[in-house]
Amino acid sequence: MKVSIIGGGGLVGSCAGFALQAGKIVREINLVDVNQDLCEGQALDLLHGASILSDQKITATGTEGVKDADVVVITAGLRRKPDESRLDLINRNVTLFRGILADIKKHGYRKDLIVFVVSNPVDVLTYLAIKELGLPPAQVIGLGTVLDTTRLRSMLAQRLDVPPTQVQVTILGEHGDSMVPIWSNAQIAGLPLDKFPGVNTQLVAEVEKKTRGSGAEVIKKKGGAGFAVGVSIADVVHAIALDQRRILPVSSLQTGAYGLRDVAISVPTVVGRAGVLGTIEIDLWPKEKIALQKSGQVLRETIEKVL
Ligand code: 2OP
Repeated sequence: MKVSIIGGGGLVGSCAGFALQAGKIVREINLVDVNQDLCEGQALDLLHGASILSDQKITATGTEGVKDADVVVITAGLRRKPDESRLDLINRNVTLFRGILADIKKHGYRKDLIVFVVSNPVDVLTYLAIKELGLPPAQVIGLGTVLDTTRLRSMLAQRLDVPPTQVQVTILGEHGDSMVPIWSNAQIAGLPLDKFPGVNTQLVAEVEKKTRGSGAEVIKKKGGAGFAVGVSIADVVHAIALDQRRILPVSSLQTGAYGLRDVAISVPTVVGRAGVLGTIEIDLWPKEKIALQKSGQVLRETIEKVL
């Protein structure tokens, strides 16, 4: 499988490239960036490690490289300032993003192409890509709350001193201020979170607050996310590459789950080679369902304002 990463010269794109190389599953990693030198430098740096890591093809090209890609990951875009919300970015990034979509259309693409949006505000830009590319909606997904979910799991595990891979709690909704942690179904090693030793409402509230502020915190400390967003991207790409049909909180166009319509937002989604194979409307606490619908409303209002 060939994966093209538009914005592959930048922090998010290059970390995604390294996560795919370390994951050893995709056949070709193609970096695309307006900054050609930086893009070639990232590809060269990846290539230098190939003999230890994996027999993959690693290339740096212009946008023409996407025409035979199976998956195009779009990470290009301006980053927000620490005190800016992801939605504040919208006006600056919509123009840039529309240019990227036009470039992809100009060069042509496989009819089974999966477009995977990471650029922020990811839910609004995923919706824009669905409307403007002409691909079936199921073939356009956004990273959504996958990164938020992994952050919450990892930080909750650290607080409770348990293995992060055994923490199961998912965030749904907007990848942004209105995200919704689903505590009603949270577990550790298959055991209910609220009955786990050391868990109390204050600890849960503290970890949730830290998760919500993680994006801004990382921007403030190191300029922006790289490693965690890179492995989150690779996790979704691998579900596509291996047709795993795993249930992931990616952002996709909603057609009625939880009463959400005509908006791209994260709900439990079955992801495989064909993209979105379906969504799973699990039971939520009433307050979680209300918060999820509010999150959808926030995104709908933004879409109506800017698109
Ligand atoms: C973050 O939360 C990049 O939006 C991404 O760090």
